[in-house]
Parts: sequence; structure tokens; C-alpha cells
Amino acid sequence: MMASPCLDDHRFSELVEALVEQGWYVGENFIAWDLCRDLNRELSILADHDALEAAGIGRGREHEHRRDIRGDTIHWLDRESEAQRRYLDVMGELQQAINRTLFLGLFEYEAHFARYAAGAFYKRHLDSFRGRANRVLSTVCYLNADWPADGGGEMVLFDPESPDTELARVRPEAGTFACFLSETLPHEVLPTRRPRASIAGWFRRNASLGGLVDPAH
Ligand code: OGA
Ligand code: MN
Repeated sequence: MMASPCLDDHRFSELVEALVEQGWYVGENFIAWDLCRDLNRELSILADHDALEAAGIGRGREHEHRRDIRGDTIHWLDRESEAQRRYLDVMGELQQAINRTLFLGLFEYEAHFARYAAGAFYKRHLDSFRGRANRVLSTVCYLNADWPADGGGEMVLFDPESPDTELARVRPEAGTFACFLSETLPHEVLPTRRPRASIAGWFRRNASLGGLVDPAH
């Protein structure tokens, strides 16, 4: 039996308040260190077994690979391991609590492991794709224990009103959790100097219309 995933009430209120006031949140030591360790191990094993795919931009038929824009390799979570289930259960709790407080209507969560090899980056972007604005809230959980000050790979959040203003620069240290409104917060991943592990995820609203299936990824 695993311990029940449980968000600390205080951390949780901190996150909700930040979302309400500024549309983004970054918290250190937010996700349990042993969970980050297990997830990081799983990602390393996937990488060693060539089980990661090049990440693309755009969805469905517009999906394309552009290493000049985005250089990570990914693996979608599907509850196939204890660590994944534990992480997704924590996100489920977060979703319920946010739904109770913020009325964003989040009802689905999708997430993938991401590995940035040394030199990789992800240029400034928004997470909700043109015409399919169903990603409501973005999450990023970092998995790298003892990330060095000169390791690079920070995620930079920009002010939607003033795109040259940096709101935050987030070191990808294990346990750090970032959460922001997908449709409004421009962000980028600076080139990393060493392999960088994270889980990027999105709470979604269903945008299916007139029998057209809205693809998950
Ligand atoms: C993304 C993304 C940020 C990060 O995958 O869309 O912006 O720090 N990731 O990994
Ligand atoms: Mn993004």
C-alpha cells in the first residue's frame, strides 16, 4: 500500500492564491523528494531503453518536429508505474481542489516526462494551441536533485502585458513545481548544460464540438 498522496493545505492555498492574483505559481519542495527521485529513475530507464520520442509542436495534423524551437524528448504518463500513479493522484487532488475554488472547469489531466539533453531548449511559447484553447492550466514538476547554479535550463515566465519583462526564472530543481494559465503566460526553457528531467502537464477543458473528437495530445 502506498501512502496517500496528500498536498499540504498551506502549500495548496498558496498556489490557489497566486493563481488568482497573478496567474502563475512557483513553489520549491512542493512535490515529495522521494516521488521526484522515483520519477527521475523511471525517466532515466526510459531514456536508456530508447523509449522517448522527439517532442513536437502543434497537435493532430499540424504536429511537427522543430528542433530549432523545441529539443526535448518525451514519454506520456499512463499510470504504468507506481510513481506515475502517485504523481497523477497528486494532480487529481490538485484538480479537485482547484475546481472547488476557481471554477476553471478542469476535468482532464495529461502529462509527459520530458528530457532535455545538454544544449536543448524550448523557445518562448504559449501552451494552448491556436484554435484549440482547451489547455487551461499548465504544470511543470522538476526532477533534478542538486541542480548546479551554472546548470542552465531555467524556465523563464514572461509578463503577458509586457513581453520583455521576466516574471520568474525557475531552476529545474527536484521538488519545484510551477503552475500557470496556459492561454496567457508566455514562457521558455533556456538552453540546459546538462541532462534535465521534468514532467510537463496540462489540465484541460474538453473542446469537442459537433462530434469532432478533440485529440488528447
Ligand atoms: C512545455 C514547457 C517547461 C519546462 O513542455 O510546454 O514549457 O520547464 N516546459 O520543462
Ligand atoms: Mn510550455
